[in-house]
Amino acid sequence: MRENNKEMLLLEEDNALAEEIRHQMEEQSLRELYTEIIWDLIGEINEINDRLSRKCNRPIMDNITWRIKTPESIVKKLKRKGQDISLECAKHVLNDMAGIRVICSFQDDVYRMAKAIKKMPGFHLVKEKNYIAHPKESGYRSIHLIGKVPAEDENVTVEIQIRSVAMNYWAILDHQLCYKNEKKEVEKIRKELRSYAIAIEKIDKKFLKLRKRIEKL
Ligand code: GTP
Ligand code: MG
Repeated sequence: MRENNKEMLLLEEDNALAEEIRHQMEEQSLRELYTEIIWDLIGEINEINDRLSRKCNRPIMDNITWRIKTPESIVKKLKRKGQDISLECAKHVLNDMAGIRVICSFQDDVYRMAKAIKKMPGFHLVKEKNYIAHPKESGYRSIHLIGKVPAEDENVTVEIQIRSVAMNYWAILDHQLCYKNEKKEVEKIRKELRSYAIAIEKIDKKFLKLRKRIEKL
């Protein structure tokens, strides 16, 4: 009972912190600022897609999504990272307060898209993480581009994730697993998922080869 109470109090404390961050985000019109920045970047990415699709004679991008991190998710992540739980800290420590996800059908297009995005005039690349060449322990494969976009009185960090349709399909399920607690079963599923990540990588490569053979016909 005591333990339960402690957990409840901790949760309440987290909620209070999330509320405080929500309040500060509203005061600073942060959602509006991030939305504007994201929409500008999406405009540029759509132009890249048009240009590359014309050049390659096939659609390069399958779809694009975006999101702004919720106060609850900010609190969770800062806690996990052992950082101060404040909006100021989040702005400095978290790369994905503003996030865009670009999905392409084929792996070569993921690289094509990443190369072009890195050159976008409004996006100053700070860090590139190639989890396709160097997959994570989970099996996760994606390219992450972290960049700064100059805004009124601060540089805003944006994380752009680029991956194939198949890698995305995998990541959706893997992400759902993060929120589950049944340790034994989770470990089993995690192992199975890891093997599917490898299978998907093989299929992605085979599909690319097949597409190239079809293009030659
Ligand atoms: P966080 O993992 O977000 O704390 O940041 P980090 O500095 O470790 O960067 P990383 O590139 O590992 O992760 C950034 C984002 O990529 C995450 O917030 C997720 O959206 C995504 N991501 C990273 N690893 C995985 C993974 O194993 N599975 C899934 N589904 N997504 C992942
Ligand atoms: Mg991580």
